[in-house]
Amino acid sequence: MTAADLEPIERASTAELRALQLARLQWSLRHAYENVDHYRHSFDAAGVHPGDLKSLEDLARFPFLTKQDFRANYPFGLFAVPRERVVRIHASSGTTGKPTVVGYTAGDIDVWTNLVARSIRAAGGRPGDMVHVAYGYGLFTGGLGAHYGAERLGCTVIPVSGGATERQVSLIRDFEPRIIMVTPTYMLAIADEFERQGLDPRQCSLEIGIFGAEPWTEGMRAAIEERLDLSAVDIYGLSEVMGPGVAQECAETKDGPCVWEDHFYPEIIDPESGAVLPDGEEGELVFTSLTKEALPVIRYRTRDLTRLLPPTARSLRRIAKITGRSDDMLIIRGVNVFPTQIEEAILRCAGLAPHFYLEVTRERSLDTLTVHVECRAGADAPQAARELVQYVKTYVGITVEVNALPPGGVERSQGKAKRIIDRRKL
Ligand code: DLL
Repeated sequence: MTAADLEPIERASTAELRALQLARLQWSLRHAYENVDHYRHSFDAAGVHPGDLKSLEDLARFPFLTKQDFRANYPFGLFAVPRERVVRIHASSGTTGKPTVVGYTAGDIDVWTNLVARSIRAAGGRPGDMVHVAYGYGLFTGGLGAHYGAERLGCTVIPVSGGATERQVSLIRDFEPRIIMVTPTYMLAIADEFERQGLDPRQCSLEIGIFGAEPWTEGMRAAIEERLDLSAVDIYGLSEVMGPGVAQECAETKDGPCVWEDHFYPEIIDPESGAVLPDGEEGELVFTSLTKEALPVIRYRTRDLTRLLPPTARSLRRIAKITGRSDDMLIIRGVNVFPTQIEEAILRCAGLAPHFYLEVTRERSLDTLTVHVECRAGADAPQAARELVQYVKTYVGITVEVNALPPGGVERSQGKAKRIIDRRKL
């Protein structure tokens, strides 16, 4: 990839980028205030007006938007354009209550498509590549988002969607795609299926995996790259902000997803106080859309925990790999635990495979965390379990129970893996 292949904004100076962001942010705040009751009320209540934004730092004076605001305005109450101008609806399946509904104008779809095309190119994709899309199609943004971006880049798209794992394998063997777009956990399930059929997944045609929609660790990256002999890069996004392609890791550096800051302005806040934190500090990621027409989001609290990092392969800032969502944080006897920390520990144990889920139970006000995890074929299960207990004790600081299951003992995800069963809440 040479500089000439990049869009001008990907190599713009910081001053150019900030000027563009400021102009777009002023438009976006006005657009939201003038067209959405929710913003008019929330800005008025906070005593701020779009005209008060003279610099990017002034954004901190504006109120946050939360998942609850989406629920309260279900289904179309946050739209800033007449419904007739909305050409597409998506929704994210909430684990509780109503789904979060999002909408796009033709212009929004065009921006999204361009950003996914930019993302696939940053991942190492080129016009003419064949792209196997195994993200789910439908209300989930993953499948269609990936699909149109790959087409825009000039790729040949195979719109497989998730599930039917045997067929995933036969299509990869027969069509020989260079790129796969899928959740990292479903990639593992596809690799298992190759092996079940007596095939070596390293011999397949895939050279690039664009993995996201769920947290995954550096250990998982190494494991997938080794198992499939491909380059694994991270794609980040969320429905409320757009879908996949809000941020994308660049193939040349693999140092965390680069935020497409020309369309989404990122902030990191202290999740308790809401105060904006300096770049480099860990906190909750907040996004403000700069160009969205149908559904402007002003200071949307993602609940994803990460840090903002300086630019490297592009002139735009990066986020560190997401360690987890605040919703997924378990507090076990006073210690904060994320599923990604358990994933790291499992990947250190030679006898275990990274197929797992966590179960939390409470007995006489004492919480117990049980890790249900698969052993590798031929592994000594009690020994592998003891090893994991030791790693978790050392690196996470808690004592867990381990239920070491035979290979195939943990149900495979076909999209986002469900990592936590919290019996305290049931
Ligand atoms: O998962 C959009 C997407 C599709 C992204 C395909 C990437 C690839 P939602 O269903 O709304 O949208 O879920 C968004 O998933 O807030 C994060 O918690 C998590 N997430 C998404 N990408 C990553 C990632 C899609 N690369 C939520 N790393 C987000 C960690 C991720 N977590």
